[in-house]
Amino acid sequence: MKTALILNGPNLNLLGTREPQVYGPYTLADVQALSQQACATHGFALDFRQSNHEGELVDWIHEAGRSQATGTLAGVILNAGAYTHTSIALHDAIKGTGITLIELHISNVFAREAFRQHSYISPVAKAVMCGFGVAGYGLAVAALAEMQSK
Ligand code: DQA
Repeated sequence: MKTALILNGPNLNLLGTREPQVYGPYTLADVQALSQQACATHGFALDFRQSNHEGELVDWIHEAGRSQATGTLAGVILNAGAYTHTSIALHDAIKGTGITLIELHISNVFAREAFRQHSYISPVAKAVMCGFGVAGYGLAVAALAEMQSK
């Protein structure tokens, strides 16, 4: 069974209390539970993580590159939070490892502030999803399953 690695960046640990009008009422534990359900449906093991630290996310992407090389990783779903809009380091890590990665956002970043409308992740992502609320995590797992057959 391959693993779906879901990485969450800064402030996503605050889901449930953080701007519920933007991100909804669900906690990160709720998101993990729905991701677990989607992974069970699609035959993946789930590895679900969150960090507020850019370097830790870089390290995890390097780890994903090694797992992809050994054939144990289905791919990565990354909600990089605000690092999406600032991090050349994450861009370089994704590009340098060549991992299969879906960029995910809970909110529709294109309907928000101008600074959210540029992503350093998109050019190195296989696909980009935003605006589905936390349901996007389940949809991204389904999309990762679809990609396996390609
Ligand atoms: C986010 C959107 C980002 O602009 C923001 O900084 C986040 C969350 C989202 O899931 O909608 O932290 O990635």
